[in-house]
Amino acid sequence: MDKFYYITTYGCQMNVHESEKIAGILAGLGYRACEKIEDADIAVFNTCCIRENAENHAYGNIGMLKKLKAKKKDMIIAVGGCLTQQIGKADILHKKFPYVDIIFGTHNLNSLEELILKKQKSKKAVIEIEESEGEICEGDAPLRTSYPNAWINITYGCNNFCSYCIVPYVRGRERSRRSENIIAEAKALIAEGYKEITLLGQNVNSYANNTDDITFPELLQRVADIDGKFRLRFMTSHPKDFSEDLVKVIAANNKICNDVHLPVQSGSNAILKAMNRRYTREDYLKKIELLKKYIPDCAVTTDLIVGFPGETEEDFEDTLSLVREVGFSSAFTFVYSPREGTVAAKMDNQIPEDVSKSRIMRLVELVNSNTREQSSKYVGRTVEVLCEDYDDKKNLYLGRDEYGRMAYFASPSNVIGEFLNIKIQSANGISLVGNIVKD
Ligand code: 5AD
Ligand code: SF4
Repeated sequence: MDKFYYITTYGCQMNVHESEKIAGILAGLGYRACEKIEDADIAVFNTCCIRENAENHAYGNIGMLKKLKAKKKDMIIAVGGCLTQQIGKADILHKKFPYVDIIFGTHNLNSLEELILKKQKSKKAVIEIEESEGEICEGDAPLRTSYPNAWINITYGCNNFCSYCIVPYVRGRERSRRSENIIAEAKALIAEGYKEITLLGQNVNSYANNTDDITFPELLQRVADIDGKFRLRFMTSHPKDFSEDLVKVIAANNKICNDVHLPVQSGSNAILKAMNRRYTREDYLKKIELLKKYIPDCAVTTDLIVGFPGETEEDFEDTLSLVREVGFSSAFTFVYSPREGTVAAKMDNQIPEDVSKSRIMRLVELVNSNTREQSSKYVGRTVEVLCEDYDDKKNLYLGRDEYGRMAYFASPSNVIGEFLNIKIQSANGISLVGNIVKD
């Protein structure tokens, strides 16, 4: 009899890729994906706890399964990811949602198969949260869902301890995969037909630090040297470790996109210090200058937080002025969310919600106006896009150029995974609309 799985993913690309690994494990056990959670024999929630709203979103969705589980007693509900790894959270989850069958931590992903088999033999909930990171596990084949892009982990965990961030607590210390395994995975994916490779890590620039393996710029070079037409991206870079060697490698290789994600978080030196980011506004601007010296047209995207404890109106104005100065092509903007156990959560100068809300609105307005202005410059130009998807509401295909700009276009046939030249006819806020140009 057919058995089905349904995975709900919260949070970042790291989690999206981890869900692909969970799907690989479930496929190995004979499960197939289904479209609706109601049809699932196993429902997995891959959670995120980076901000309170991600956490609440997961709680809401798990809560909604209570009725379904009461009707469908054999259905297995499993909750994993960053949320469960927080100290004490597994017990809270178990008390709040006693019908959840399996609770597993970020370090227990590789034993998911065992946990499912254990649950099938037991009436009790199976709860396994491993505190230590353990060895990196190679060999489990993910079931990829993001063709033509393929995610490849290069590091796990983080050593930076930015004062607001929960990641080092729930993902453990930084570990790097061996470069030969990464390169072999990239080669196999390109041979299979993937057209974009994205190397993933919390701070890719510190890849293989203090080991005998090659550096991140060398790794990037070796992946770019693989034969075939494909794009190479990476995320995320920490500005303190963003080096001239890396910029030179990006500049020298056509396959590496001229599009760098470099989270700045704040434009104020006092706030950057309190965030423990270990660079100043001036250091950051120097990195941008270095990037533009070698790659004048390089797109830069960023992450920004408003309402960090103690942020004054002047500090916030510094963030706005930095956004104007750099001219980011786009930015992810967040209201600071206190995370239990972090240094910032204990600070006694938290910012009132209404102040943070008004700041985020002003920031989003500025970021969007920058993005709109840059988009409008595309009109009339022809750009090469990699077609990624089909939007069935708009009845149009969509792709991105190497700078990450999204363009919609019509096509009589399925062109997902193809590189196409698109003449841009109009700019619609962030995205562009155009026609395929035959060469
Ligand atoms: N509150 C708000 N934003 C946060 N981020 C990380 N932790 C928090 C927090 N506690 C943001 C940072 C980071 C991105 C992935 O999430 O901007 O770069
Ligand atoms: Fe969090 Fe800072 Fe590590 Fe990024 S670098 S994951 S923001 S601690």
